[in-house]
Amino acid sequence: MVKYQNFWCRKAILKHILHYQKHFKAQDTDIILASQPKCGTTWLKSLLFTIVNRFNPDHQPLNKNSPLLTHNPHDLVYYLEYGVYGGLQPNPSPQQLQHLPSPRLLQTHLPYASQPESIKTSSCKIICIARNPFDTFVSLWHWHSKLINNWGKDPEFQPPKIEDFFDDFCLGKFPFGPYFEHVIEFWKESVQQPDKILFLKYEDLKGDHAVLHLKKLAEFVGFPFSHQEESEGVIDDIMHLCSINNLKELEVNKTGSMYEIIETKNFFRKGEVGDWTNYFTPSMVERINTVMQEHFGGANLSF
Ligand code: A3P
Repeated sequence: MVKYQNFWCRKAILKHILHYQKHFKAQDTDIILASQPKCGTTWLKSLLFTIVNRFNPDHQPLNKNSPLLTHNPHDLVYYLEYGVYGGLQPNPSPQQLQHLPSPRLLQTHLPYASQPESIKTSSCKIICIARNPFDTFVSLWHWHSKLINNWGKDPEFQPPKIEDFFDDFCLGKFPFGPYFEHVIEFWKESVQQPDKILFLKYEDLKGDHAVLHLKKLAEFVGFPFSHQEESEGVIDDIMHLCSINNLKELEVNKTGSMYEIIETKNFFRKGEVGDWTNYFTPSMVERINTVMQEHFGGANLSF
């Protein structure tokens, strides 16, 4: 890995990131999903895609004809720096990207400061999804263990030991880390630019007020739910369609693969809040709390 502009990335993809930074031109109507890996990107992709496309007659009824039933969410909301600028199908090429109908639904893992200038200066909307660092770490550790097993043909790769990986996580040394700086930067930007950046927490979408957060999301991207839709149960239908239990049982997500090295089933593990309690020792809890206090302490942000 290399450290570039205060974040880490695999050496092999740095050139794609540079292309993205240099050539991507945001459009005012773009909707851009920003996240740290394992904070709920796949879930938010499915929710956003469904909210924005719910009036498309070809997708009706949602629970029978939604493209989500036959496509992995990552095939419907495109991954900019690695998918599009890395030339990985089914993401469109940078040229094709220019001709997609608006609003374009796009995703990035880069920190706010490293985003192309046009993302900051255009009127595009950004939704940042964040998740508590405890569950994010556990999810990331499982992900890397599986990913590296998929790469197992290379004897150099070993699944990381949890204690080593934890050290790297706290130091921010993993692809698109550090986590804490990424989250707080988007949080602060969302406070300063509330019309441009919506900061969502994974836990909020899981909690008792999930419907309120989904309504806020739909309003933010310019596709609010009408009273009629609410009374007809459209919000519940969307939540069910995009729920992990529904998505993980679909054939496309059970057996599909992406970019040759990723089995799509690995995007759907437990999808719970609090799984970290099965893994953390008291000293791990203490260390994360200390790092969290250092970074989030001065801001009104908690998990
Ligand atoms: P766990 O490993 O804790 O289960 P990302 O999409 O950013 O890679 O994040 C992956 C995490 O989100 C995994 O968490 C995964 O199980 C969870 N996830 C995937 N789809 C989900 C959904 N529809 N609802 C809730 N969680 C989901």
